Amino acid sequence: MEVILDVTDLHIEFHDHDLPETAVEDFDLMLGKGEIVGIVGESGSGKSMSALAIAGLLNRHAIKKTGRIMFEGVDLLTCDRKTLRSFQGDEISIIFQEPMTSLNPVKNIGWQVEEALFIHHKEIKKEERKKRAIEMLKAVGLENAEKVYKMYPHELSGGMRQRVMIAAAMIGNPKILIADEPTTALDVTVQAQIVELLKKINRERGTSIIFISHDLSLVSQLCERVIVMQQGNIVESGSTAEVFRKPRHQYTKKLIAAIPKIEL
Ligand SMILES: Nc1ncnc2c1ncn2[C@@H]1O[C@H](COP(=O)(O)OP(=O)(O)OP(=O)(O)O)[C@@H](O)[C@H]1O
Ligand SMILES: [Mg+2]
Repeated sequence: MEVILDVTDLHIEFHDHDLPETAVEDFDLMLGKGEIVGIVGESGSGKSMSALAIAGLLNRHAIKKTGRIMFEGVDLLTCDRKTLRSFQGDEISIIFQEPMTSLNPVKNIGWQVEEALFIHHKEIKKEERKKRAIEMLKAVGLENAEKVYKMYPHELSGGMRQRVMIAAAMIGNPKILIADEPTTALDVTVQAQIVELLKKINRERGTSIIFISHDLSLVSQLCERVIVMQQGNIVESGSTAEVFRKPRHQYTKKLIAAIPKIEL
């Protein structure tokens, strides 16, 4: 399998206060082309910080990062800003739990979906941008894409907003899509639809996906491989089926035991 992303020994430390705080201690991830990898772990275990580092979004001075994040022969931790920016949102995209905070409330949906094209592909003319945005909105399952294009974030349901976020993240046809709890704020039916959509994107475009979730059952539906994190460390990783069927680490066993069982 062709490796598209190779993260080794990633360490992230915050220096906002007197004492440094370690968010991620020792994170490794090898992501194959077209592969979907899940990251699970309790709140505060370092899932989002690892994801943000990969997406190139942890660039404050007070954040110290060591290790390597290799993408297309470039180390994203040490490359210059211009190179990093050329990847962000174009080659590597990220979507979050609550689209309302990522979408700009005063801009219409068309603007939000076209933004990455506007930044990274200035050569694409206005009409063509619009055409691609509408195609993308259709591809993420929004019927009436022409109408949605002109609407504003507050006029859409949570599920529609997450689809818009996915359209915006996918418009540049990135090689990697990072989804940080993209379904947590949605009801169960819509969650399942978003997972289906991610599967479809992976199947049809070959996009590699990093899927972060608290929901082990969604992870087992979507991901071939899973990483389990606890307190900034990876405590277990392997094929999803194997890890969930035969967890080796005590912490993974606890996570699995915590899945609510429906009593009939
Ligand atoms: N600005 C900051 N200063 C100090 N520590 C921080 C800062 N931001 C985050 N952290 C720490 O980083 C650690 C990892 O946080 P992260 O957001 O990656 O957790 P998570 O696994 O995504 O949790 P959740 O499931 O709740 O989203 C946390 O323990 C947190 O205390
Ligand atoms: Mg998080």
